[in-house]
Amino acid sequence: MKAKITLAKEFRIGEIDKRIYGSFIEHLGRAVYGGIYEPDHPTADENGFRQDVIDLVKKLNVPVVRYPGGNFVSGYNWEDGVGPVENRPKKLDLAWGTTEPNLFGTNEFLAWCKKANAECMMAVNLGTRGPDEARNIVEYCNHKKGSYWSDLRISHGVKDPHNIKLWCLGNEMDGGWQMGAKTATEYGRVALEASKMMKWTDPTIETVLCGSSGRYHPTFGQWEVDSLDIAYDSVDYVSLHQYYGNHADDTPSFLAKSLELEEFIHTVICICDYLKAKRRSKKQINLSFDEWNVWYHSHNRPFEKWSVAPPLLEDIYNFEDALLVGSMLITLLRHCDRIKIACLAQLVNVIAPIFTQTGGGIFRQTIFFPFMHLSNYGRGSALLPLIDCEKYDCKDFTDVPYIESIATFNEENEEMTIFCVNKNLEENIILDVNLLDFDGYKPVEFISMDGHAKNEVNSFDNTSVKPHNNPLPEIDNSILTAELKAFSWNVIRLKKG
Ligand code: AHR
Repeated sequence: MKAKITLAKEFRIGEIDKRIYGSFIEHLGRAVYGGIYEPDHPTADENGFRQDVIDLVKKLNVPVVRYPGGNFVSGYNWEDGVGPVENRPKKLDLAWGTTEPNLFGTNEFLAWCKKANAECMMAVNLGTRGPDEARNIVEYCNHKKGSYWSDLRISHGVKDPHNIKLWCLGNEMDGGWQMGAKTATEYGRVALEASKMMKWTDPTIETVLCGSSGRYHPTFGQWEVDSLDIAYDSVDYVSLHQYYGNHADDTPSFLAKSLELEEFIHTVICICDYLKAKRRSKKQINLSFDEWNVWYHSHNRPFEKWSVAPPLLEDIYNFEDALLVGSMLITLLRHCDRIKIACLAQLVNVIAPIFTQTGGGIFRQTIFFPFMHLSNYGRGSALLPLIDCEKYDCKDFTDVPYIESIATFNEENEEMTIFCVNKNLEENIILDVNLLDFDGYKPVEFISMDGHAKNEVNSFDNTSVKPHNNPLPEIDNSILTAELKAFSWNVIRLKKG
């Protein structure tokens, strides 16, 4: 099969905000305990942080990490997680049916972020609590000194303020599973008041309004219209969440889910712009896609109720998951003019690219690699490739292009990178890329992941699903030709000179 892509510097979608490569750590399962924090682990540093985990997080180059939930945050008292550890209470977490020991909290997480070279995106509890506790945690974290909460932080040994810039106004407040779930109007009011008071406490922060917990949630659309209409003037972003699974064992439909994602994003942008037009405002609301991934392998696994850090949501990802994760991130980048933040949910053990054994080893899941490639090479601006390729029909979609692709251009480093998924399960694609105004750019690396069965997974003993390098593609008369193997992930890096 043959396909063509045309690329030019003018095909610029926008500057990529590095926070689009964010991730997420929730007090859930073994994300914190046995994941990022395990004082008895052989690699633990003086804070109890697993160094083997930090090393892999650094390879992913994650600039921002959302914390502490998720569903967990809607019942969390942040005060339980600060101050002397021996005084911290053990509490039941009603979101996940576990016991939270509170050995790790806000200051520990901020210290971990420093070690991992990441910023914190902090979520406040607008489920069981409200604007008052929300503004208190902003004061605790961001106010320099001389007030009750800032002085309390200093008394906890943290002299300098954390200066957290990004704050989520609750989590999935539209869902019945959420502690303190609300109607859109109830939530819009609480979110407005919380955001207002948090910004009065620290005017430099940005806030994220909870959008729907997914495109299929019954109130999707109306929820965004009603809650954002109320809180518009105080918030900066609206959130989107989406997880996919191959429940019907239908790979062509599964790989086509990025088309649905595209529609979801488009709809939320339209809602934001409708509300902007309605109030004749100059202010634009951007998108924070702060939970996205594949999630279904671990559904309905039994666990011991009220235990501490049981193995929850421990999806082991296969090769086809890696291709969808690559396609999803490409789709987010296609909207980088509006999506400023996105969080792969989550980072360690819980539906995550990094998997550990408590007390033991670590491995990179299949989805680790496309995320790592995009996060490391997909910086600068995104270019929208003109793609000319065959399409397929499947059970859930029609006209699915076999190729999903984005290019990124880093002007400063004179680097351009083309990312491509070949969704054709059987056939290789001979791809011609017309490099219109990229004179002098030459391929320096052609990485791919291919030749794997769709269900192939990595484990502690065997990490066979990983990228490999190919011979460099030829360029003839500004046309670069590369062979994309059937059912594959591909990264073609070019540099000037
Ligand atoms: O990421 C797992 C869970 O998915 C989060 O806690 C929640 O926000 C979402 O439903």
